[in-house]
Formats: sequence, C-alpha cells, structure tokens
Amino acid sequence: MITKDLSIICERLKQGDLIGLPTETVYGLAANLFNSEAVSSIFKTKNRPATNPLIVHVASISQARALVKRFPEKASLLAKHFWPGPLTMILPKNQTVSDLVTANQSHVAIRIPNHPTALSLLNHLDFPLVAPSANPFNRISPTTAEHVESYFPSIYTLDGGLCTSGVESTIVGFEGDEVVLLRHGAISIESIEAQVGRILNRTAASENASLPGQHKKHYAPTCSLIVTYEPLFMLSTVKQKKVGILWFKSVQTESIHVEVNLVLAPSGDLAEAAQNLFSALHTLDKMGLDLIIVERLPAHGLGNTINDRLDRAATQ
Ligand code: TXA
Ligand code: MG
Repeated sequence: MITKDLSIICERLKQGDLIGLPTETVYGLAANLFNSEAVSSIFKTKNRPATNPLIVHVASISQARALVKRFPEKASLLAKHFWPGPLTMILPKNQTVSDLVTANQSHVAIRIPNHPTALSLLNHLDFPLVAPSANPFNRISPTTAEHVESYFPSIYTLDGGLCTSGVESTIVGFEGDEVVLLRHGAISIESIEAQVGRILNRTAASENASLPGQHKKHYAPTCSLIVTYEPLFMLSTVKQKKVGILWFKSVQTESIHVEVNLVLAPSGDLAEAAQNLFSALHTLDKMGLDLIIVERLPAHGLGNTINDRLDRAATQ
C-alpha cells in the first residue's frame, strides 16, 4: 500500500511493523532500531542472510553520536560536508545498538538521508530507523514507491516520488587516520577525496570478500544480463531471441532489430544515468526478454558506481 500520510507510517512503526521508506538513493525497508522483533522481520521479509548488517538512518549528527563510542575527526569532517546525504560511515557501536543490526560486527553503519519526507519522518520519531534497500535479497533495488509495492504489496510505503540519486549510498570506514572506501555509491571517490585527501579503495568485488554483505551477485534482474563497451558486437555473437539493449547516451541505429532499445542518459550526464539505472532495469526485467545487453559506462565519477552495480547484476 502506498501512502503520503506520515501519521499512518509513524503508527505502523510504533506497532513494530516494517514500512517502505523513501530516500534520495533508493527506497528502504525500515524498522525501529530498538525493536528487535521488527529488526528480525527485515531479514525474514527480504530473505536476507543474518550475516549482512543493516544501515541505521538518523535525523542528526547528535543522534548518530549517541550510537557510537568514537567519531573520528575525518568522520566529523565528512559528516559536516555530506550529511544529510548519500554517505554511510562505519563507526564503533556502543551498547545501544544490538548485534542483530550489525550482524555481530563491532561497528555500525550510519547515515542521515537527504530526502525531505524521510527527514520529516525521522524528526517525528523518537528512534532511528534501520533500513536495507527494499528489495528481496539479490534483486533490483527500488527507486519508486511502486517498485516497493510490487515486491511487498502488504507493506505500507511512504511515497516520496522517484529517488533523485538512484544508486545506494557510498560506504566508508576508518582505519587509524585513513578513510577506506567499502562500497561505491552515489558520492564519487573524487568528491570524497576533495574533502579528506587520498582514500584507500577496498571495494574489489570478490566471492569471498571478507566484508559483510559485499556479495558479488546483487541487483539482478530475473533474465540474463551482459555488460560491454560494444553492445552491437555482443549482439552479433549471442543466440538469444528476445534481446533488449540499455544504452548510455544514444541508440546506435544498427540495433533496430532488437526487442527494445532504452537510453539511460541522453544528456550524457552520469548523475542522470545513476538516477535512471534501476528504473530502466525494472522496466526491461518486466518485458519477458531472454537477454539484456548493457553498454558499460566510462570508468570515472559515478560511472564507477554504475559499472559496479551492472557487474554484480551480470554475475551468473
Ligand atoms: O543508500 C543506501 O545505503 C540504502 C538506503 C535505504 O539508505 N540502503 C542500503 O542498504 O543500500 P543495504 O542493506 O542494501 O546495503 C547495506 C550494506 C550491507 O550490504 C553491508 O555491505 C554494509 O552496508 N554494511 C552495513 N553495516 C555494516 C557494518 N557494520 N560493517 C560493514 N558493512 C556494513
Ligand atoms: Mg541492497
């Protein structure tokens, strides 16, 4: 059920139910941080392994500080610059945060979402919200209330329109004096480095990545997906009949014989491509195709984030 009524949503959360939460990145499946039954039901509802920790969403820096033992200097710098916004920081938790939320890690992931509806909800509540993306485990992330509804029809989703960033938050941790990138996201490495200098990149996707929740396969449509710099060459080599191509800036005319051609960002703007990415994958996934071929994006700025999501969607 989709609603714009904050009071219904507040009431559901107080009763211990899950709700669909709009954020600037993707919609979350949210619960009261301090209600362990509600937190457990997130894992059940998403079919998510208990080893994959959740992000805590707060309304203010002081609410974030109340959940952690330490707030490193560089974390303060990043919070001042990027919060509210799509930056998640991994910080040493104190005893107010349960092991269920962090999957037994000593650290907790926290961010302030930059979405007017999410912020007014958080300001109405006297507890933070834990929220993973509102999709079943491994499926395409939702960027509209309708996407959430199609996955979880019996849950109330707070309608906040189309997400403006369209890809998940960037995740960083801290090691001594170093900032470590753990997940590519809506804020580019370049933007973070402009604030704190060089950061360490620990995002390399690998089947046995030691980081919780960094599964190689993720964000996947139900049909096969291939990512390539040469969609037309790829098309000439495949046997599948019903093929759709997702282009970055424009359709190449020789592709007229495919079932569907979609363009991510006619302007060539990477932020526009990020905003449209998951919506385009949802659209293609509903068309009953045998194969989706996606044009790989340039490897800088948000192109790195989009390519990361596409590579995970493509892993068989
Ligand atoms: O933009 C976002 O971050 C969205 C919106 C809803 O805020 N949320 C989101 O949550 O993407 P989720 O659950 O799909 O991805 C969260 C990831 C986990 O898979 C894990 O990699 C990392 O965050 N994470 C969470 N807590 C962690 C912790 N304590 N230590 C290390 N990584 C953690
Ligand atoms: Mg997710």
